[in-house]
Amino acid sequence: MQPRVSSIEDGKDSTARCQSRIFPFNLLKFFAIFLVLGLGFSILSMYMTRYFTVQNVVPVTRTGFQLCLHEPNNIDRWIKPPSSLMHSMNDEELFWRASLVPHVKKYPFRRVPKVAFMFLTRGPLPLYPIWEKFLDGHEGLYSIYVHSLPSYRPTFSPTSKFYQRQIPSQVTEWGRMSMCDAERRLLANALLDISNEWFVLLSESCIPFYNFSIIYNYLRRSRQSFVGAFDDPGPHGRGRYNANMAPEVNITQWRKGAQWFAVNRKLGVNIVEDTKYYPKFKEFCRPACYVDEHYFPTMVSIESPHLIANRSITWVDWSRGGAHPATFGKADITEAFFTKVLEGGHTCLYNNQPSSLCFLFGRKFAPSALEPLLQFAPKFLGFG
Ligand SMILES: *[C@@H]1O[C@H](CO)[C@@H](O)[C@H](O)[C@H]1NC(C)=O
Ligand SMILES: *[C@@H]1O[C@H](CO)[C@@H](O)[C@H](O)[C@H]1NC(C)=O
Ligand SMILES: *[C@@H]1O[C@H](CO)[C@@H](O)[C@H](O)[C@H]1NC(C)=O
Repeated sequence: MQPRVSSIEDGKDSTARCQSRIFPFNLLKFFAIFLVLGLGFSILSMYMTRYFTVQNVVPVTRTGFQLCLHEPNNIDRWIKPPSSLMHSMNDEELFWRASLVPHVKKYPFRRVPKVAFMFLTRGPLPLYPIWEKFLDGHEGLYSIYVHSLPSYRPTFSPTSKFYQRQIPSQVTEWGRMSMCDAERRLLANALLDISNEWFVLLSESCIPFYNFSIIYNYLRRSRQSFVGAFDDPGPHGRGRYNANMAPEVNITQWRKGAQWFAVNRKLGVNIVEDTKYYPKFKEFCRPACYVDEHYFPTMVSIESPHLIANRSITWVDWSRGGAHPATFGKADITEAFFTKVLEGGHTCLYNNQPSSLCFLFGRKFAPSALEPLLQFAPKFLGFG
């Protein structure tokens, strides 16, 4: 029995020995085939990438090897704005990225400064045809950013200047910190384009009051940014101050102003990078303290009072009284309206000199105002 057993065991052994000799050989063959296939596939995809680079079809998830061929490796890499405004950065990541500032002040390329028009909206932009007319012929001197409710799906045609200009958005509530978050999000996304130099916050009810050249030059020649900021001693001003904000903010530093700002790049970065004032306003300025009327005006007035003109360049009509400014509809848009608003004897300081050109934009215009606005634009607004 034993030899048999042993012979069986021998047989087992020899099979095992045989298998162990065949196995590495198979494995080697397998790897060789795998290698050849892999190499073939890589070469194929290299050619594919070369042919298809223009269409930007290579998804980010492919190997870094292919991305290297795809990504510009010259200075364009740092100055070209992202081809798509969509990204998956959260606010913390976005604000960090947007706060990166070059310390060599001379740009080693021809930088044409642009105006970033940043629309803070709930959804549709009913007055967009006015903006399209206003911007026509000034390509390369502006960019558009739109923050709307995240659920809103815009329907702009591919030929529109507003096509795919939506930024990753979140739900916002008037008078709450989520409103300032949205404004900072607009700024931060616009800061990602190194050519943007002026950042104008607008709502869906805003229109431009002058042609593009006048507005562009007004911003370009201004030594200051336009942030409305004043010290209101009453209940709707200092009355909203909370002593818990000290020592970062004391009551003499408390400011009020409408949220519609136009700031330069330096101030834009200051607003996005703030971590000193933000927590104080978030915690201690809640309705009836409307944080969007106080946070930026107060912070900027403390940090860089010499950089702002303390006034907004967005006109609004409070003359009717009440808690809300007037909204202008179809029936309001007449020749007399333009004469009154545009030549209304405004006075302000521009670069510390008295000026009658104080308001470049106006609100609030209802959707029904679109038709007469388009009709009067060539005569009164200088475009269209
Ligand atoms: C803009 O308006 C000003 C003043 O009305 C005019 O002199 C200028 O030619 C206009 N610019 C354009 C590009 O239409
Ligand atoms: C508030 O700040 C100003 C300027 O720094 C200072 O003069 C004033 O004494 C401070 N007031 C209080 C109540 O701390
Ligand atoms: C704006 O107000 C600040 C005080 O908050 C002041 O220091 C500054 O000079 C004012 N700027 C202009 C242009 O009036």
